[in-house]
Amino acid sequence: MEMNWTVEQRYRRIEEIDSVDIDRMMSASQLDRGYPKYHIAPPFGLLNDPNGLCHFNGEHHVFFQWTPVGPVHGMKYWYHVSTENFVDFIDHGIAIHPDQDFDSHGAYSGGALVENNQALLFYTGNKRDDNWVRVPTQCLASMAADGSIAKQGVIIENSDYTEHFRDPKVWKSNEDYLMVVGAQTQEKKGCMVLYRSKELDNWEHLGPIHTSYNDFGYMWECPDFFELDGQAVMLFSPQGVNSENQYDLKNIFSVTYIVGDRLNIDTVELESHQDILQPDYGFEFYAPQTYLDKQGRRIMIAWVGLPEIDTPSVEHEWAGMLTIPRELRLEDGYLIQKPLAELELLKSDPTEYSSSFELSSTSFCLSFSTDQDNFQIELSNDSGESLSFCANEKQFTLDRSKMTQLYAEDYGTKRYAPRVSTTQNIDIYVDASVIEIFINDGKHTMTSRFFIDDLNSVKVSSGLIVEHTSMKGIEGLYSAR
Ligand code: FRU
Repeated sequence: MEMNWTVEQRYRRIEEIDSVDIDRMMSASQLDRGYPKYHIAPPFGLLNDPNGLCHFNGEHHVFFQWTPVGPVHGMKYWYHVSTENFVDFIDHGIAIHPDQDFDSHGAYSGGALVENNQALLFYTGNKRDDNWVRVPTQCLASMAADGSIAKQGVIIENSDYTEHFRDPKVWKSNEDYLMVVGAQTQEKKGCMVLYRSKELDNWEHLGPIHTSYNDFGYMWECPDFFELDGQAVMLFSPQGVNSENQYDLKNIFSVTYIVGDRLNIDTVELESHQDILQPDYGFEFYAPQTYLDKQGRRIMIAWVGLPEIDTPSVEHEWAGMLTIPRELRLEDGYLIQKPLAELELLKSDPTEYSSSFELSSTSFCLSFSTDQDNFQIELSNDSGESLSFCANEKQFTLDRSKMTQLYAEDYGTKRYAPRVSTTQNIDIYVDASVIEIFINDGKHTMTSRFFIDDLNSVKVSSGLIVEHTSMKGIEGLYSAR
């Protein structure tokens, strides 16, 4: 159902939505053949950024930005699910409601810190005043081991930046708590701002982290900072950047990272850093966030979606999903992404194919190794509508110009990624309307939504031997699933 949403409609709270509408949206989304089986998607309405990722009390906790009123950006809540193994999930429903004066227009994104048997949830209170001027503050809520959540209120007010000041991410470094916040300077430049606190109450403003990218877009959303394999990484979603080359920064908004030797707190500088890099070359990948689990794995989850881009699932009353969890490591200056080992639990026995084959389900994984310069994998239906992934000696191409439903064509229907080595071990995760391709041994991914009605076959170019495994669905989320 196409609909022009008014501001009043977008900002309706969940209590104001008729239960008949909720039931209608819930069944429309859960019956959609494009709804994923093993990716986290919203029950209905719109999902955007992953929030509050943490390993707490024996479980991985995943929160996400959720607009319940429909598949549109509007009043944002934190929705909460948890899991021990990424197979069986518990649906906790809404975790943070935008019900206070300081978060009256949305409980926006942020991260978690596990301390003293609590998960501290840092988020942005998005408030609009009577003139619809945005007044953002950084806020804190705490979650106890029994799952109860108590808001602690505002911890940082904005005095230094424009209205674009959001998405706190906190970690502990020796005796200090450190926080990064995504912001826009008064000169309208995007930056990652650093704060420090001794006791989690008073936060000292240390200013934007210095790098050579002090003029890189007008806003950096969803900043993350972490140490990995002896280096320091700044990961963020810059807005207002582009490039002349064929590969980089082709989506409306992008995701980039900078690797340096260390973050110097005294000079607020990322020391000896290398050039900026992109983790993903697909059509939709945004707002990634990372966390450490009990085993010490650094895990990243992103939103498969983009601000300001509508996907065809809107017709079925839902939008947006999260990527599969990806374990990170750092090698040769690259973030290497690997599907989390637990995903193996969802896989059935593999079958090998060296030519075309029929699909019995649209949730599956394809893996292959090759030294060939040229190869191609095509997903298609009986009408010849398709999504193709192909390679030559220089690059990979993901072509979605022949799908049943096209969208966002203004940003192109092909994406290219550099091929950094001849030998390739490639994993392709497909789930109804999402594809995540791990290339260059995990140095890059190509993540995208795709829309092909009645998808039923895979074509494999000659010389390739592809291992196919069906993927089971995750359990425990939402009633109709
Ligand atoms: C990124 C973002 C964040 C903000 C949130 C609101 O997608 O714009 O900066 O906190 O979404 O939902």
